[in-house]
Amino acid sequence: MVKHCLSLADLGAGAIEAILEEAARLKQERLEPGYRRALKGRSVAVVFEKPSTRTRLSFEVGIHELGAQPVIVMAEHSQIGRGETLEDTARMLSRFVHAVVCRTSAHQRLETLAAHAAIPVINGLSDAFHPCQVLADLLTVRESFSEPWSALKVAWIGDGNNMARSWAVAAGLLGFKLDVASPQGFALDEAWTTKVSRGHVSLVKTPEAAVTGAHVVTTDVWTSMGQEAETAARLAAFAGFEVNDALMAQADEASIFLHCLPAHRGEEVSAAVIDGSRSRVWDEAENRLHAQKALLLYLMR
Ligand code: CP
Ligand code: NVA
Repeated sequence: MVKHCLSLADLGAGAIEAILEEAARLKQERLEPGYRRALKGRSVAVVFEKPSTRTRLSFEVGIHELGAQPVIVMAEHSQIGRGETLEDTARMLSRFVHAVVCRTSAHQRLETLAAHAAIPVINGLSDAFHPCQVLADLLTVRESFSEPWSALKVAWIGDGNNMARSWAVAAGLLGFKLDVASPQGFALDEAWTTKVSRGHVSLVKTPEAAVTGAHVVTTDVWTSMGQEAETAARLAAFAGFEVNDALMAQADEASIFLHCLPAHRGEEVSAAVIDGSRSRVWDEAENRLHAQKALLLYLMR
């Protein structure tokens, strides 16, 4: 059966742990001959219906480093952008390449792609989830904390968006505690959260309540791709949700700060925090490469 990764739930806890272990090994042995040949002779399409820097770099470089050929497809320069159906695109891609990564808007588009593809489909970000980013984030957490997942607490500050949802799925699977503080009207959907959280996710009222005792404090932009028309309203609604030194002071003293990037200093995070000693955002960005290579190996080997 073809394995896909549209959400971390498609992997499950055991596979996530295995992928994180392999990613850590890949980081140590990045260009070792065994890994350089791992996917030799194969090709992977990486399709973008939205802009990207890190996702493109991590997959394009990662696929190359595993010995395979990346094929970058920008939707606006392909027939996808002219309305060729996803069903036909999936059938056609399956005849050319051995896996496809796709960044899109509606999650349903990925489900359609996966339903008609004979090859693994990887979610490179949808409006619902960003599983590849959270794999890299979990790897970054593992580099800072050796405690079991059940002893760790993560605080999500801000929008109940694709990133927050992927963190919630990860908490439910791995068993760490996730407290989510969002402005009114921007919270994670409560019914959905209850379904995936297995008791590990709490929607709390204030950023202060979320960060108390947290080992990891993380956030994301207030306006995600595709929401640009809402920018002014969101700026107003998210006032008071900046991750700054005063907030970090209430987290665990060993706490780290994560952000998937790109960031807006002075909005969701202060310059002092993202450029400060607790920030791990550059390790987190680099870890996209190692995590994405490990995911490709898990799905394709
Ligand atoms: N974090 C992330 O996915 O970055 P890009 O949008 O640059 O790919
Ligand atoms: N929530 C953001 C993540 C960007 C990597 C977005 O969807 O635009």
